[in-house]
Amino acid sequence: MGKRTGKEKLGVLRTISYVFSTISLITFLIFSAGYIGSGITGVGFAAFRVQQRPINTRGLPTIFLSIASYRDPQCMFTLLWALKQAKYPERVFIGVLQQNHPDMDVDCLSISLQNGFNATDAELIMKWRNQIRMGRYSYLDARGPTWARYMAIEKLFQQEDYVMQVDSHSRFVPQWDELIIDNIKQLPPNSVISHYPSLFVPGEEDENGLPKDYQKIISRMCKGFYNSDDILQPSGALYALDKKESRSNPFLGAGFTFYPGKAHETVKMDPYLPYLFHGEEILFSMKMVAAGYKLYSPAENIVLHYYYRKDFPRYWDLSSIYPDFHQLQKYSLMRTKYIIGTLDYEQVENVTWTLQEIDKYGINWKDPVVKGRLDKYFTMFEMDLKNKKMGDFCSKGLPEW
Ligand SMILES: *[C@@H]1O[C@H](CO)[C@@H](O)[C@H](O)[C@H]1NC(C)=O
Ligand SMILES: *[C@@H]1O[C@H](CO)[C@@H](O)[C@H](O)[C@H]1NC(C)=O
Repeated sequence: MGKRTGKEKLGVLRTISYVFSTISLITFLIFSAGYIGSGITGVGFAAFRVQQRPINTRGLPTIFLSIASYRDPQCMFTLLWALKQAKYPERVFIGVLQQNHPDMDVDCLSISLQNGFNATDAELIMKWRNQIRMGRYSYLDARGPTWARYMAIEKLFQQEDYVMQVDSHSRFVPQWDELIIDNIKQLPPNSVISHYPSLFVPGEEDENGLPKDYQKIISRMCKGFYNSDDILQPSGALYALDKKESRSNPFLGAGFTFYPGKAHETVKMDPYLPYLFHGEEILFSMKMVAAGYKLYSPAENIVLHYYYRKDFPRYWDLSSIYPDFHQLQKYSLMRTKYIIGTLDYEQVENVTWTLQEIDKYGINWKDPVVKGRLDKYFTMFEMDLKNKKMGDFCSKGLPEW
């Protein structure tokens, strides 16, 4: 197998992944055997140490902020602003799934005077340190963003009330935790809030890390297109934010998603999608819909996102290191298409690999309730994945759930 060669050659550079522990008087160390077996690419992981600490959240609903970071110098700013802008930082639990070069990259947690931060910022991180869970991996262990988000939930999520998934280059509006919880409480019980966040550019922000006039426009997903892999990808439009209210949403975007933590009791993040990029969003959307969730855009901007990152390392750089990158990516795409129903079993290559544990991570189309929900979703958004169709609601307005 090609991957063995790559792994052996670079094995020396691999670092062991671990979760940092801090000193606390009452500490329960839970050693969870972190081996995810022969899954993914055969790379084993060291035992994962996760601390559970008695933290006083004062009865506030808690949020797990999932941040997947691939060699991203912006990660530490994302972490800092998340805590700085929260109304109640004590209810924000942050899981950083970091994939760094052991020598060349800055750690997401290195918010210190040494690195040019002032005392206020450095102290803030110290103060909330117990709420930050780091999963540190070598970039050579990285298997793409879908995998990283799976790992963040699998290893760092501790059944907080809500999950908020963002990218490692994000900014947050003041009191974001309160705003987004108020927002979801006004929606039906099983709702997911998501969109493609508006843009910020580092160096052009105001003193709150935000662009000028960030509440004037909002992006909403209102159409889709089929890309060169024949996968439906979300697309949207920008609207004047004259009235703060959520709209129904045909998709979830990976860069900003907010939903009840209990969703993961039924919707399992899939470990068998190495290097998947496009395809993640329609897959996650459909899995949530299948589980009875309704998708909405946020009533206002909660998170801003840095889109045009030039010259930063990206996970696809790994394609030059791992000879089996493209093969595995192809299998992941096939798995995705099989789950969403656009590829038949007979068309799937290498099924023993490609469709591992598919009953656990796929969609149970045989369940009439599940099928009914998805049929309704397709009708509502005029989608026909096999015939590559989807309605365009950008000017005519989105249908109601
Ligand atoms: C510390 O730096 C932050 C920017 O990260 C700034 O907003 C804040 O005003 C600074 N505090 C002091 C005391 O200089
Ligand atoms: C299936 O794919 C895996 C991962 O690339 C590979 O190790 C295995 O040899 C493949 N099996 C077949 C039958 O192609």
